[in-house]
Amino acid sequence: MMNLKNFQTHLDGRGVFIATLSVPDRPVNVLDDSVLQDLNAIVEFVQHDSHKPDGQRTVRMLLFRSGKPAGFLAGADIHRLQSIQNRTECEWILEQGQTLFNKLESLSIPTVALIHGACVGGGLEFVMSCKYRLAVDNASTKLGLPEVKLGLIPAWGGTQRLPRLVGISTALPMLLEGKLLSAQAAYEAKLVHRLISPDQLETELDGFVARRLGGVPVARTPRSLTKWLLDSNPFGRSMVMRMARREIEKPSRNYPALARILDAAEIGLRSKTLSSAGLAAERAAFCDLILGDVAPHLIGLFLRQEEARKTSTWTDNTEQIPVRKIAVIGAGTMGAGIAQLAAARGYSVLLQDLKEEFVNRGMGTIRSLFTKAVEKGAMERNDAEQSIAQIQSRVDWGPSDDIDLMIEAIVERLDTKEFLFKKADDQLPLHAVLASNTSALPINEMAQATHRPEKVGGLHFFNPVHKMPLVEVVRAPMTSDETIATLVGVAKRLGKTPVVVNQSPGFLVNRILFPYLDEAARLVLEGESVENIDRAARRFGMPMGPLELLDVVGLDVALDVSSTLAVLATESSPSPELFARLVDLGHKGQKSGRGFYEWDHSRRLRVAPQPDGLLPVPKVELDDWTIEGETFSPIQQRLILTMVNEAQKCLVEKVVPEAWMVDLGMVLGTGFAPFRGGPMACLEKWGRKHVVARLNLLRERCGARFTSAPKLDQLDRDVSHQVPTEYHPRAFL
Ligand code: NAI
Repeated sequence: MMNLKNFQTHLDGRGVFIATLSVPDRPVNVLDDSVLQDLNAIVEFVQHDSHKPDGQRTVRMLLFRSGKPAGFLAGADIHRLQSIQNRTECEWILEQGQTLFNKLESLSIPTVALIHGACVGGGLEFVMSCKYRLAVDNASTKLGLPEVKLGLIPAWGGTQRLPRLVGISTALPMLLEGKLLSAQAAYEAKLVHRLISPDQLETELDGFVARRLGGVPVARTPRSLTKWLLDSNPFGRSMVMRMARREIEKPSRNYPALARILDAAEIGLRSKTLSSAGLAAERAAFCDLILGDVAPHLIGLFLRQEEARKTSTWTDNTEQIPVRKIAVIGAGTMGAGIAQLAAARGYSVLLQDLKEEFVNRGMGTIRSLFTKAVEKGAMERNDAEQSIAQIQSRVDWGPSDDIDLMIEAIVERLDTKEFLFKKADDQLPLHAVLASNTSALPINEMAQATHRPEKVGGLHFFNPVHKMPLVEVVRAPMTSDETIATLVGVAKRLGKTPVVVNQSPGFLVNRILFPYLDEAARLVLEGESVENIDRAARRFGMPMGPLELLDVVGLDVALDVSSTLAVLATESSPSPELFARLVDLGHKGQKSGRGFYEWDHSRRLRVAPQPDGLLPVPKVELDDWTIEGETFSPIQQRLILTMVNEAQKCLVEKVVPEAWMVDLGMVLGTGFAPFRGGPMACLEKWGRKHVVARLNLLRERCGARFTSAPKLDQLDRDVSHQVPTEYHPRAFL
């Protein structure tokens, strides 16, 4: 009907103008300038038609749907947002969208959006301007406004329309947490008018269209009394707002989008109809945020995550060994988690441990992980049952010809792992790749126990496996590109972001994290209070303090990893003695109910009394450090500059070749303050010369461990973020 780049259009016999969105050369639909132009052309066409005299009108309804199996519309093109140069350009983009959606909303004919898969960000803002929304009722349908996760505010009317459609009490968690709703939840929240069953899609859609064309109104159940009290009554609304303000008070110091979202929503709700003041507040906030400090970091991390998920980022040779069946050896905490995830993602899985009771315990963990996934609506019950049926288990080696990949997750002892790799090499078919989930041990030693060292690599998951987004893929000196490509492929299919690292004690994340944990333990030995240390780290933006993290990781595990990492230390540390002492006393941290804190299962109760008899360490005197408008306490300097310095060492030693990889690994693997972008982004912001000067002072006061990393002051301020550096994956091994 119309000749558009991104929409196929068709007017059916009933007068339904069907606009099918399919952005060329993209796996998913995104809103960019050309989609907005096309959409504007459609809206103006319909507007023009509606203004014709009665008998000449041809369009009675406008229906939007997506031609992409992946989903409806995944939001604005983030590369486009990242390219915004100044306020004028930003205002222009926002006004275009707001004006277009207002025009769409005021069309006089019914407008319908049929939603499947992702309908998020600008995608949801678009469909909220339609009169009716239908959602395909399956697990892949997701609706929401996740802009806050990029440090932004929805600014094409999202903060204005969502509270009007679903009520402020439902809208706020969606706006402030970026929470996505399933089709069912969106229906219950009254964000969508009808659920459409996937196997009756066309019939149910036709029925809905016919009823609307016949003038039958959509029957909707009234809101519950509680929802009415909270959303429709001024007292209820102001109570919800007050509570939200209290909740965001602390986090909005680091994430300014939170307060701006709340302000815009509040301004919008002051008027009964969509207000220009609310839309203006959205625009002003968006421009401030995208031109500010935090959103560029969060957007950068998001885009780098996409880059990390491309195999070509990590290896030139992208040939992979096809993986259908995975043997997971070790059914403990990590093995059970990995097996569950692999089965959930469609792999056949074989779970192996030493005894029946260990396998049974592992299968129990797997079942409960599936049950939770079903309860949360992340998975259909049938799919969960089918996935469980894909898991075989055994207690000894047996027929293994169909195994394509082994993931070893047994105890963290090199001799035991070497023995296992030797056995696996005998038992598994020649094409199979052998991977270890070790936290820090050398992969090449395991590789050398086999006749296929090129097919051996690391696949280091983080705990808990189903939640943590990062997997370190470890390249040992003889690991082939094909093996790396295969492991990257598996990590991606498991829904993880891979970062390929060269073998080095502790790889990338633990190597940077452990010196920081070590510094925290030294501070304890100097007599600093546990609360002060953890609070200082949290204030910097870490998700939990280092001593709490040590308790969660387990002090026995920390002791093991510290001993592997000791080879890298410039100075001997008293911390392992502290960990060993606590472990001897049975205080292994969270799992034993006591470590630096006392625990009731996963709940932190209070600081535990520290063991006596340890050699005291002299207390270090240090001043605050003010840099780039921020002041860091002595504790913060010691903790954070330790990580920044180690991060630089990892780059110089080419554990990874580029700074963004360090930052992505640390943010995804440890939760390193995302709003700061990562340790290398901090280094850039503070300036290399200033960091070196502070490290020199710390070395004088605290010891040689603060000797600044090689080349820390030799590179230009922004060199570390340049892409690409000279890098050949194997050149330095
Ligand atoms: P775990 O102690 O919970 O489980 C280890 C399992 O391996 C046990 O069930 C044990 O019976 C089994 N096992 C031992 N030797 C075996 C053999 N020869 N054949 C088959 N099964 C055997 O240990 P967890 O915590 O699951 O750790 C496993 C590996 O994952 C270790 O290398 C650890 O460093 C690494 N890792 C652990 C993380 C954690 O937070 N727990 C995080 C990341 C890596």
